[in-house]
Amino acid sequence: MGKSEKSWEKRLSGQIDDLAVNFVESLSYDRRLYKVDIAGSIAHAQMLADQGLITKAEYGQIKKALFEIGDEIAAGTFVFNKVHEDIHMAVEDALIRKIGDVGKKLHTGRSRNDQVATDIRLWMRDEIELMQARITLVQQALVKLADQYKAGIMPAYTHLQRAQPIVIGAYLLSFVEQLERDWRRLKNCRDLLNVCPLGSGAVAGSTLPLDRQSTAALLGFSGITYNSIDAVSDRDFCAEFIFDCSLIAVHLSRLAEDWILYCSNEFGFITIDDKYCTSSSMMPQKRNPDMLELIRGKTGSVYGALMAILTILKAQPSTYNRDLQEDKIHVFQAADTIDLSLDMTAAIVNGTRFNTARIAAGMDRGFLEATALAEYLVRKGVPFREAHGIVGALVAQCEKEDKRLTDLTVEQFRMVCDKIEADVADVLDQARVVTQYKTEGAASPAQTAEQVAYWMRKLGER
Ligand code: ARG
Repeated sequence: MGKSEKSWEKRLSGQIDDLAVNFVESLSYDRRLYKVDIAGSIAHAQMLADQGLITKAEYGQIKKALFEIGDEIAAGTFVFNKVHEDIHMAVEDALIRKIGDVGKKLHTGRSRNDQVATDIRLWMRDEIELMQARITLVQQALVKLADQYKAGIMPAYTHLQRAQPIVIGAYLLSFVEQLERDWRRLKNCRDLLNVCPLGSGAVAGSTLPLDRQSTAALLGFSGITYNSIDAVSDRDFCAEFIFDCSLIAVHLSRLAEDWILYCSNEFGFITIDDKYCTSSSMMPQKRNPDMLELIRGKTGSVYGALMAILTILKAQPSTYNRDLQEDKIHVFQAADTIDLSLDMTAAIVNGTRFNTARIAAGMDRGFLEATALAEYLVRKGVPFREAHGIVGALVAQCEKEDKRLTDLTVEQFRMVCDKIEADVADVLDQARVVTQYKTEGAASPAQTAEQVAYWMRKLGER
């Protein structure tokens, strides 16, 4: 307990309670907004000077002191005091201690409500660009790997059951597509959030002649928010950002899940660099894909952040409530987790190779060529449903006799369907089957090569 240092709380008794100080503060996590907070303040002060609300000289003093504060925070010499609650008051308090009464003019026509709303938008704008760059690095790693496996084949699975042969590169590019949607969702999120709430004040705007357009322009916003009541409590963009992070987590965890399976002895499809595996404290032979498991596991905290932000926003009475302070915890949590997971994924992809010989050796299991055989019959004039039945019966028979379709002679095939001829061999050879995929976007070597070239060009331009 002691006397409050909060100069802005003259209305209150001025007694402080340690429990309350610790409970209400956000400084421990919102200090990372310091750069954008200072940038916002400088723009606000410049606008105040342009509008004649402070003098040019006062603006100069404020700007210089704010730069000093920024340098001190960056250097780690700034002393934070939780009594100041948040980064906004910590910076303003330091400003007033530096330049006295002039510092007290900075908050003219501003509230922490429009200030923090502006800060998060500024911070998120930059964060999104960094996250997009990370996504691009993962995409590039995947494309580089796909380029090495433009012809090698592997089984595609549906329901985790062997389905059809595909080109390994095409499988890898499937994640590039997912990440591309993530990249574009983030771009869209950035476009939507890039409007400036400054000038909305606490809730109703200000009686002072603030030039909102000019502050917004100084901060690189594409425009301003048009309803002060909405602007001070709109955190839709936070929920949207965390949702975008959640979908990235979905995509990374699905890749992780595949690769955890693929590097098992049962599959043996890939080998991940030793750097990204750990061993066991007890079992000397172990080589565990812990990094991938953590990428999968971290999805949980990102979803948690999404549930948290949606719950925080739900049923708050109109405009700003202190509940909103919790937004940043979850925004930062989601962003940090995804940034780490993207970096780890890029490193793992760069250090992974496909064991093509082992994959090829197992391709004759699971009747991967069955669909191609049915489509062969279609080309011979058999209605598809009939063809499906013929091949299904053949597979059942082979399974009973522990045979593969390739073990059957043309005569044996013809006993089931006389449309089958010697050229059936074309569809029983899986390496040839993949070259026969004709539809746009299919997993053939030619289209994989085309797609690899497309992505190399497109991602190279980013
Ligand atoms: N730290 C607060 C937040 O993050 C800043 C806004 C506080 N506004 C207020 N009227 N108490 O939301």
